Amino acid sequence: MTPIIKASKVTFTYPAKVTALRDINLELNEDEVTAIIGQNGSGKTTLVKHFNGLLKPTKGEVLVEGKDTRDLTTAQLSKIVGYVFQDPDDQLFMSKVYEEVAFGPKNLGFKGKELKSSVKNALKMVGLWESRKKHPLDMNLNDKKLVTMASIIAMKPDVIILDEPTNGQDHQGIVKVESLINKLRKEHTVIIISHNMELVSKVADRVVMMYDSRVIFEGSPKKAFTKKKLLNKTYLKPPLITQLGQGVKGMPSDVLTINELVKELQKVSK
Ligand SMILES: Nc1ncnc2c1ncn2[C@@H]1O[C@H](COP(=O)(O)OP(=O)(O)OP(=O)(O)O)[C@@H](O)[C@H]1O
Ligand SMILES: [Mg+2]
Repeated sequence: MTPIIKASKVTFTYPAKVTALRDINLELNEDEVTAIIGQNGSGKTTLVKHFNGLLKPTKGEVLVEGKDTRDLTTAQLSKIVGYVFQDPDDQLFMSKVYEEVAFGPKNLGFKGKELKSSVKNALKMVGLWESRKKHPLDMNLNDKKLVTMASIIAMKPDVIILDEPTNGQDHQGIVKVESLINKLRKEHTVIIISHNMELVSKVADRVVMMYDSRVIFEGSPKKAFTKKKLLNKTYLKPPLITQLGQGVKGMPSDVLTINELVKELQKVSK
């Protein structure tokens, strides 16, 4: 299967001379949920901005659906890959939620019924249809984040990137984001950047771990959470359930769910 996104030997240096990516080789498969994790400043946002062409590699190449991002215009790329910014204030600029969400699809040429239905579907999906007349900047961080997600969903890209979707969200917000990702995965390839390992363990098929501008691990969440040394290096801890399992003698170190934990505890206590 051709990867939907392929990065080969990608190095990126910001004009301020900060090298944020070093020799990144990565293949992302269609229809998977990939979680990119790693400490602050390790290069996660810089990496995903290469997937929708906001940034182009200083060295190496990024292929999206087999095409070099340098050969595609931003408009062409935004049909394929949608990026929801880490900070919603960097993305929001219209005075009404509805207009904010309609902006992207309008730019892609959506008109009439198609435009209306894509905006409505996206706002319903994030639970904000009733708030369509509000000013985005008057909303709380939870809802601002959801508006930015709707703006991208309305454009119907193949790949949706959510940069720290649960950042600043309360428990209810986190539950909403989890259920949204589960809806999105049915029709899109999803990439999330997250510091929330509980969320990662629940939604990700694959984990990419970054440290100091490099990818230091890629594999299943189960495997990622047994890599204690690597996680320590990136100041991350496995989800609580996994930590509980790891604290019990004779238990496997890759327990991810409560059901698995109960099963394994029953085995150990026999
Ligand atoms: N516009 C910029 N100009 C110069 N350096 C930058 C710029 N944006 C980011 N950097 C630097 O590049 C490195 C990687 O930053 P990046 O934002 O990609 O990391 P991150 O893993 O997303 O971090 P966080 O978890 O804090 O969001 C950091 O050292 C950061 O300071
Ligand atoms: Mg970031």
